Amino acid sequence: MSLEVHNVLLVLSIANLALVRAAGLECRLETISKVFGDNETLFEFNFRTIGRQRLLNGTLNFHVDLDDDYEMSTEVLSLRDGEWESTNVGAHFKTCKYMALIYDKYFAVSFKDSNIPKGTCPIKKGEYYARNVEVIADNWAHYAKLGLIRSLTLIKKGKVVYGGVEILMVLSQKIM
Ligand SMILES: *[C@@H]1O[C@H](CO)[C@@H](O)[C@H](O)[C@H]1NC(C)=O
Ligand SMILES: *[C@@H]1O[C@H](CO)[C@@H](O)[C@H](O)[C@H]1NC(C)=O
Repeated sequence: MSLEVHNVLLVLSIANLALVRAAGLECRLETISKVFGDNETLFEFNFRTIGRQRLLNGTLNFHVDLDDDYEMSTEVLSLRDGEWESTNVGAHFKTCKYMALIYDKYFAVSFKDSNIPKGTCPIKKGEYYARNVEVIADNWAHYAKLGLIRSLTLIKKGKVVYGGVEILMVLSQKIM
């Protein structure tokens, strides 16, 4: 196990512990933008925020199966004194492991009105929708930095990017 993977697992297990204790976090989406592929965008994240509540809405358009030929990574940056600073929260896995360890655990719960597959891999090519998603950040817990956060998720094969999504959000402590 690489040090990097080990760190991620450590961070995630701390997050799970914190879940029991923490009041949870509130997430407000600021912007969602699609990351284009270096040459072609095989995985299109066509989301935007809608309404005053800034719910996530839109479609995923996968032009090929998303399987273990690809790797997925998420990097989380936080704004500090006007500069983006990397945090120790990040993940980088082959697709199926990413889906199981990151997506299914930390994001799938938010996608209620959606046909994006959960608990399965590979994800077949096709168009999937998600409507009016309110991001539930409760189990992201204490390990996440509060304030303005930038999350960059990329799908790559080798060094080549085939799509991704960048999200700016504000995380705050939930008021009980
Ligand atoms: C992507 O485009 C660059 C420059 O146009 C080229 O050098 C590279 O081989 C291409 N990569 C793939 C995977 O198509
Ligand atoms: C929200 O997403 C759904 C599913 O893609 C789409 O049909 C609908 O038009 C979107 N609503 C808005 C307000 O963009």
